[in-house]
Amino acid sequence: MNKRIKNTNPKVNDFRNEVIEGLKMEQKYINPKFFYDDEGSKLFDLITALPEYYPTETEISILRDRCSELKGLTDGTEEGIELGSGSGKKGAILLNCLQDLKKYVLVDISLSALESALLFISERFPEKEFGALCIDYMIDDFMGAIDGIAAGKRLLIFLGSTIGNIEPSSARNFLMECRKQMESGDRLLIGVDLKKDVSVIEKAYNDSQGITARFNLNIIERMRRELGVEIPEKAFSHMAFYNREIGRIEMHLKCNVDFSMEFQGERIDFRKGETIHTENSYKYSIDEIEEILHEAGFSRTSCLTDQRKYYGIFISDP
Ligand code: TRP
Repeated sequence: MNKRIKNTNPKVNDFRNEVIEGLKMEQKYINPKFFYDDEGSKLFDLITALPEYYPTETEISILRDRCSELKGLTDGTEEGIELGSGSGKKGAILLNCLQDLKKYVLVDISLSALESALLFISERFPEKEFGALCIDYMIDDFMGAIDGIAAGKRLLIFLGSTIGNIEPSSARNFLMECRKQMESGDRLLIGVDLKKDVSVIEKAYNDSQGITARFNLNIIERMRRELGVEIPEKAFSHMAFYNREIGRIEMHLKCNVDFSMEFQGERIDFRKGETIHTENSYKYSIDEIEEILHEAGFSRTSCLTDQRKYYGIFISDP
């Protein structure tokens, strides 16, 4: 193992217990963190490259096209800390732009993703210092786990609109926790998918090649593979739609047949037409995000968007 990776062994192995708990609920539910096994992580990488999936390319285009403004807004920062660094590609784009960053710390829940991202990025920037931390940053104290960071010169980076995958109240609390750990001079950089024409949003989660469907259905495959449960072929289909009242994409697995699942002596009944809720992706307006950041204690926020205003990069001062 690469000695630059600090591993806190985040709990992702409780698949069996958490799945059973979630499937016993009135609205059946599976925690989306279980999407990201090796197969799921690969499928997710394919999603980000789909023609219909606009968020990734739009985010990258803003980071590239608005580089000089980004530099100005993050002036004085020297250490990047990226939460959910994934493949490391966005980190490389940021390091190309923000040349004053001397050190870059990758933070991710997946150890295998961290290993390859660290290799990918350190090869490209041999003159920079890198660190890597394997942690469930939504739950655990990531700032406390990073050694030797210069308070007042840190840039906390949170891309991919991952903030949209948690409830708005949790998003506020999470940002508040981040704010508490930040000092004057530190900066937050966060990427958020914006509200827009519903058909554009819905297409992004119902791609024509069916990759998002495979990604969603991979959880059922995982249950077959890892838990040994018997589930009829084609028992579930992918379903994703925009819920206008709540302002979010909802992903579900829709059940196509009545059947029962046996789980170590426990029986769970499924009815045709019911769903397992697997993920939400909240979409925000610029005003809504600025308000959440304000409520979380940030004093000032600037926003950079693309021309179509599909996506926002927000930079906040503590
Ligand atoms: N956070 C991104 C989004 O909500 C990426 C993402 C997370 C995603 N889970 C997903 C994309 C499931 C498609 C399907 O869009």
